[in-house]
Amino acid sequence: MTPDLFAAAPTPAERAAELRAELHHHAHRYYVLDDPEIPDAEYDRLFRELQALESQHPELLTPDSPTQRVGGAVLDGFATVRHAVPMLSIRTETDTEATGAEAFDARVRRELGLSDTDPPVDYVAELKFDGLAISLRYEAGVLVQAATRGDGEVGEDVTQNIRTIGQVPLRLPTDVPAILEVRGEVYMRRDDFDALNERQRAKIAAGAKGEKTFVNPRNAAAGAVRQLDSGIAAQRPLSFFAYGLGEVLNGHGSEPLFTTQHGLLMRLRDWGFPVAEQTRVCHGSEQLISFHRDIGIQRDSLPYDIDGVVYKVNDLSLQRQLGFVTREPRWAVAHKYPAQEQLTTVQAIDVQVGRTGKLTPVAKLAPVFVGGVTVTNATLHNELEARRKDVRVGDTVIVRRAGDVIPEVVSVVSDKRVGDPPPFSMPTHCPICGSEAVREEGEADHRCTGGLFCSAQRKQAILHYAQRRALDIEGLGDKLVEQLVDAGVVRTLPDLYRLGLTALASLERMGEKSAGNLLQALDQSRHTTLPRFLFGLGIRHVGEATARDLARHFGGLDRIMAASVDELLEVPDVGPVVARSIRTFFDQDHNREVVEQLRACGVSWEEGAPAERAPQPLAGKTFVLTGTFPTLRREQAKELLEAAGAKVAGSVSKKTDYVVAGEDAGSKLDKARELGVAVIDEATMQRLLTEGSFT
Ligand code: IVH
Repeated sequence: MTPDLFAAAPTPAERAAELRAELHHHAHRYYVLDDPEIPDAEYDRLFRELQALESQHPELLTPDSPTQRVGGAVLDGFATVRHAVPMLSIRTETDTEATGAEAFDARVRRELGLSDTDPPVDYVAELKFDGLAISLRYEAGVLVQAATRGDGEVGEDVTQNIRTIGQVPLRLPTDVPAILEVRGEVYMRRDDFDALNERQRAKIAAGAKGEKTFVNPRNAAAGAVRQLDSGIAAQRPLSFFAYGLGEVLNGHGSEPLFTTQHGLLMRLRDWGFPVAEQTRVCHGSEQLISFHRDIGIQRDSLPYDIDGVVYKVNDLSLQRQLGFVTREPRWAVAHKYPAQEQLTTVQAIDVQVGRTGKLTPVAKLAPVFVGGVTVTNATLHNELEARRKDVRVGDTVIVRRAGDVIPEVVSVVSDKRVGDPPPFSMPTHCPICGSEAVREEGEADHRCTGGLFCSAQRKQAILHYAQRRALDIEGLGDKLVEQLVDAGVVRTLPDLYRLGLTALASLERMGEKSAGNLLQALDQSRHTTLPRFLFGLGIRHVGEATARDLARHFGGLDRIMAASVDELLEVPDVGPVVARSIRTFFDQDHNREVVEQLRACGVSWEEGAPAERAPQPLAGKTFVLTGTFPTLRREQAKELLEAAGAKVAGSVSKKTDYVVAGEDAGSKLDKARELGVAVIDEATMQRLLTEGSFT
């Protein structure tokens, strides 16, 4: 719509029509296709122009005007709407396993009188959106009414609120039937739901009365659709997917517009309705099963909640042939997934102690089956988080477990709280050893100050020491450490090397053979390296890389133990927090004692001379490694580069100086080329290591 300088100025009516057409077009690009052509500000400008025009000329206002999306009118109640074609529900296949799809296919085949030798039936597999069903009525292509399902026969007129949904077209192209009812699901995206609850929490915190947070996107969507004040509904971000039809009266001859469910969905999409892209035509039950499985995998990464998938016989004439039983079609079924959220009650809030003494509040729950497993614990992370969610003992809570993520308490169902249980507060002392628990300035976590005196920390410390990247003691896992510490057999790390075959073999679930294997693993761990040993001690803030830097800089353990904070600060990449943590660790007698005893038990490594400010030809350079090198393993190359002062990063960016590429280098190489980063081979890297630059 380019302005034509020579044309006469449009009349207000013409301009209003022009603006409405433009706004319809851009709303479809924005809300349905997610691909806007113009910036938001430009859309707003057109929108305001139309608003101004309509307020100057109220006779120009039409029900399909985009300005009607903002809501505003407040109703006393909803009018009722009798559905011209009843809104039915679908049978739910309770079997959440693959066999659910087989049972449906078998029923359909039987009803159609098909034998095993007949070809597979075609189905359309769709998502089962977790929102609420809505019927949209268009007359001459204009949205005139939107109704809830109600009891299937009579619903409520929620037109005002539905008009506020950007994805619902207010006007359709000219080739649509004279009367067209489109049915689908109104829902709320998860990100919109989170943002809405965030705003609600802020209102509550600011003292607003009568505000509440919503339990889940479905409830929030249902609440918004049934809002009497459409101005409020307009602030609740809703979305829409179309999946079927109600009444259709065709003014366009008798040619059927579609003969299959899939054809119907594609037509709805052409008319401007959102249709989920996952929709598939499936031949027979096998393809239904794989659809169910594939969507199950994608489920957590979808931007909205689904509670299952829906299968529908594709051919509309077969649908008619199958018909209905009571109020459910025989040609469709909902195949569910195990629910990811469940209600349960909090029986207690325990506090667990980690390796570095971090105290974690954990809600102990009445066992509940959620996301495919029985859950009895959910972390509350720290005191702040527990207080933010205001979880209290006795509360009814929503527990969520999605995919393999650890279960969490989503929120408390506040109206179900009985009495006035006290809010959670962190204990002032460690629940395991009774030492004082403190929270340092600027930190969210409380910590037990008991150090290795605390048996919980001791268990974690032993596991840390034994892990593969530290002393690598195979076979020393949580169960065994638990037993050893609880039985009082192992109190400190050196006790591990004093274990005897008889003591070990007498432990539960420990045969003589595994006891022997463990002793052998312990023996092997005596020969180690200084970086592994340092890392294994579990000094706070000393990870593997820092342990390597320390070992390289000082050469020997005694020099590290004696180093002042200032001397420690000379180590590359060691800052004040790390330096102080190392100093504090070795200032404690019991830690020095542990080190001495470990050495006395034969734990040893090769020491070197302190690095005389070892030459660092590659200081300040960043490398990325990719592919397989001819002579060095990736890990070795990394160590060499780091020893020469370089940083080795995991991904290529503009800050990368060199990408070292070996055979079968992948996307990192492409990225390097794209960004113009120097790509070198192993030989060139070796040259850089000795010379620091190309010569
Ligand atoms: S078809 C005659 N398709 O699930 C068949 N329903 O009881 C009518 N739903 O009330 C429904 N996604 O709210 C259909 N792709 C989908 C759906 C779907 C969600 C809801 C709908 C309906 C309920 C089924």
